Amino acid sequence: MEKTKPLDNVGPSVQLVVQQFQQRFDDPCRVFRAPGRVNLIGEHTDYNDGFVMPAAIDFYAYVAAGARPDHKIRVHSVDFDETVDVELESLALGPTGHWSDYPRGVAALLFARGAITTGANLVLKGEVPIGAGLSSSAAIEVATAVSLLALAGTGLGRREIASICQRAEHEFAGTKCGIMDQFISCFGEANHALFLDCRSLEFDTLPFPSGVRIVICNSMVKHELAGGEYNLRRQDCEAGVQLLQHHLTDIRALRDVTAAQLQRFSAEIPERILRRCRHVVSENARTLEAASALRSGDLSRFGELMFASHDSLRDDYEVSCPELDLLVELARECDGVFGARMTGGGFGGCTVNLVKAEAVGQFQTRLCHQYQTETGIQPAIYVCVASDGAGEVGPQPA
Ligand code: GLA
Repeated sequence: MEKTKPLDNVGPSVQLVVQQFQQRFDDPCRVFRAPGRVNLIGEHTDYNDGFVMPAAIDFYAYVAAGARPDHKIRVHSVDFDETVDVELESLALGPTGHWSDYPRGVAALLFARGAITTGANLVLKGEVPIGAGLSSSAAIEVATAVSLLALAGTGLGRREIASICQRAEHEFAGTKCGIMDQFISCFGEANHALFLDCRSLEFDTLPFPSGVRIVICNSMVKHELAGGEYNLRRQDCEAGVQLLQHHLTDIRALRDVTAAQLQRFSAEIPERILRRCRHVVSENARTLEAASALRSGDLSRFGELMFASHDSLRDDYEVSCPELDLLVELARECDGVFGARMTGGGFGGCTVNLVKAEAVGQFQTRLCHQYQTETGIQPAIYVCVASDGAGEVGPQPA
């Protein structure tokens, strides 16, 4: 991987993977990590060649890794307390629905590309809550990829690593995801959000203003993307593009369509597909505007765009749920909140909130109390720090 930064985290997860590696394999290991993400704005736009604005967060997947001379990947998950053997030469496509689909998919694709030629022992631990819309799967994929590549001594560019991990998710886990999650897990930058063009993969890092915190509220409603509603949304978008191409012959994706064009041909598009398209077209415009607002420090406008994004995801794209809507409405009433919206694929998971630093304490107390009173569910609240992307964790003390 180009420009790997040495990391110096020796927190509990690092100690855990190292300990478990030593117990199981009695060999020296190296430790790698890759972060989850939160998306500030630009939702369900990545697979439409559009714009997104994620930040890597300080929740990671960790991998302790050591080389093997044969063609076997022996992978142990601390979270599932289970070990799986993967034969590099006989890797079937997925999905099986098992946690090992992710490391298996990454190993298979790296082997097929010739980027790795021998096996490895891996111990995995994910800190990113599963099913919370914070990309626990991309974190596992990217952490697996960087560790296998480092053991093999193969230097692949980060764009290629992201794209191999995205393919692993398509082919071995069954979700036809865009590139956002794997990309930010590779390219995250401390205290910055990334403004990414998902067609060209060009990006800009936008410094995060001091005095503002990214607060993530977990509704504790688990989402399940694989094979279900997520893939259907993608199909709806593709159907919209096909209909619009009768008139707009040079468009390739909804990224190429303006709100005025969509309006002009709306009579020819079935109502549900029209709403899906309207979300994507308006979300791209909002994300572009949000990038300018962040560059000029206009957090009030940025926050308005976040609320508008949520409304559009709820009404036009229909990927929210009552609990996420409630969290956003509660945030709207709290002092010191610039904006709030659901983040990630949806159907449960988390909201992202931009909150003045001095208001965070009160925001947390109020939101927890009111959400619990109305739903009977205790939410989890994380005050996050925008973090660096994947890399090796510094040498471990003996
Ligand atoms: C999931 C996918 C991403 C993206 C988001 C929605 O996280 O993995 O590629 O499509 O949903 O923005």
